[in-house]
Amino acid sequence: MLKNIRTLIAFYSLIGWRRLLLIFFGGLLVHSEVFGGFFVPLLVRRILDALTEKGRLDLTAIYFLGGLYGGVLVFSYLGERLYLRSKYNAVTELRNKIFSSSFFFPWRKLKERGSAYYTALINQQLNDAFVVLDYAYIRNLIVIARMFAILGVIWTWSPTFFGLFLMNMVVVAIYSHVIDRATHPHYAQMYELVRRITAYITETFENLHEILAGEAIRKRCERYTVMVKEVLKKALRTEWIKVSLDKLMVDLPGYVSRLALLGYGGFLVARGQMTVGTLWALWVYFSYITEPLYVFRELARIAVQTSANIESILDYFADMERYRSAMRRTSIRPKDNAPVYVLRDVTFGFEPGKPVLKQVTFAVDPGEIVAIVGLSGEGKSTLLNILLGLEQEYDGVVELLGNDLRGVFPGAVFEHVGYYSQAVGIFNDTLENNIVMGRPLERNRLEKIIEEVGLEHLRGRLLGEGGSFISGGEKQKLQLARLLYADKEVNIIDEPFVNLDLVNEQVLLSKLKEFLSGRSGIIISHKPHIIKLAQRIVVLKEGRVVAVGPLKELLASNEVCREIIRSYLRGAREVEKEIQSPNSEAGG
Ligand SMILES: Nc1ncnc2c1ncn2[C@@H]1O[C@H](COP(=O)(O)OP(=O)(O)OP(=O)(O)O)[C@@H](O)[C@H]1O
Ligand SMILES: [Mg+2]
Repeated sequence: MLKNIRTLIAFYSLIGWRRLLLIFFGGLLVHSEVFGGFFVPLLVRRILDALTEKGRLDLTAIYFLGGLYGGVLVFSYLGERLYLRSKYNAVTELRNKIFSSSFFFPWRKLKERGSAYYTALINQQLNDAFVVLDYAYIRNLIVIARMFAILGVIWTWSPTFFGLFLMNMVVVAIYSHVIDRATHPHYAQMYELVRRITAYITETFENLHEILAGEAIRKRCERYTVMVKEVLKKALRTEWIKVSLDKLMVDLPGYVSRLALLGYGGFLVARGQMTVGTLWALWVYFSYITEPLYVFRELARIAVQTSANIESILDYFADMERYRSAMRRTSIRPKDNAPVYVLRDVTFGFEPGKPVLKQVTFAVDPGEIVAIVGLSGEGKSTLLNILLGLEQEYDGVVELLGNDLRGVFPGAVFEHVGYYSQAVGIFNDTLENNIVMGRPLERNRLEKIIEEVGLEHLRGRLLGEGGSFISGGEKQKLQLARLLYADKEVNIIDEPFVNLDLVNEQVLLSKLKEFLSGRSGIIISHKPHIIKLAQRIVVLKEGRVVAVGPLKELLASNEVCREIIRSYLRGAREVEKEIQSPNSEAGG
């Protein structure tokens, strides 16, 4: 319980104390009937005793009772309004805060568990947490306060009953502690599983082609069944624990105490040592004393399960804040005459002791295009992620326009750098919105670019999730359109024009060449005619820079460079020779 309250306070403090106070105050008003519940038995007892002892109606007590009911109605109505408004505002504020801070969350970490994992956490489970916890805890606080007031009154009536009631309160305290300890881990595990299942479902929907083509439907369904069964197992296990504890610690003491109350209380009334009104009031108060037991019984499950969620939300939030404070700088100020990029001894790996990049050192001067050449998996895209500020856990120094990139928010890099990514990310939106993205709309320029890259036929059409409704080549055209529209001085281009026929490739290549003239940047490609756009080449081999220089020089001196270029030329020549030879066969 205490741990849950601490979690709750940590959670609420994300929202701010002012709003928290409003929610709390509203919640107190909502439950004003609980306060009223303390006075009602006192007044009714007076009325009953006046009736049984003197045979007259106590009108004053009835007026008070009427006033009490009226007050409870008005306060709880006002409370609901205040409470709901502040709560929904708080939820919205917190959601906005989380969503906008999420851009500081390292993308690799996000991809490790899957985007949908975090969606489940932030969207659905955050909501559950809010809906249940506030009501539950505020009500419980009042109920507990009322319990102490009732104990005070009963002390003045009968020390014996005081003892009985106190015993029940102790049971309440122990019960809530025990049920929390017994069920919390299971709920935490269950919700972790639920998030994983959400990510699994999303991944399934996003890769339907692959699943069908890979004949993986059965395997996929089996894995799903296993996961769902695990959730079921966890849920049942927790429910069994709960049910057994309920019987033993809630129902049994309740029945025994009520029998004792009626037996001993009836004995006192018969001997004239207690009034009927008092016995009745004790019976009602007993329900109030045990109410927390029943409330906890229901709440234990919900409170524990939501607090398990909240803990994950708090963890996520703590992570985000940590990364946010690590990315202190949210803007880059280009320095005059500084090189575009400088890399000094950059070493980086995904696992300790296994560097992918080793002491990479080179620079890109203003107005210069540098190509990075290397076999697949050498770490070229990884290097680009470092240059874009997306990967920050490297050794060495990286500077963009005279600014050290460490601690810079990636969004700030993209204000100065145009980017053509290898995996083209496309939104289920119109072509136009996919090109403009968040930049100001310049309609004429946009139209011109759409025509230049040859995408007029897609105007105004939805492109489908991940660009499912356009062709691979169209994705490449769109990616080039984005680069042209962004219109940056510095450009980073990763494997342009894959999936394109040679005719289209030539057209786009000449557009790209025209665009890049006078600009700076880095380009990665395995194709000689694209590498040719660069003035200088950096050759990566086994994670190290093994040569830097103009293409012509490197062709003479560098084996990797020569091999990449030659394999292309050789391939093309062989095909040509084969086709032109008189005894060639189709498909032979
Ligand atoms: N999150 C990760 N964890 C572990 N290894 C990774 C991770 N991401 C990438 N790698 C590995 O790092 C290496 C470099 O990958 P990268 O994408 O940079 O290669 P590349 O040079 O761009 O290759 P290509 O020319 O095929 O695009 C690869 O072996 C890849 O498997
Ligand atoms: Mg790559």
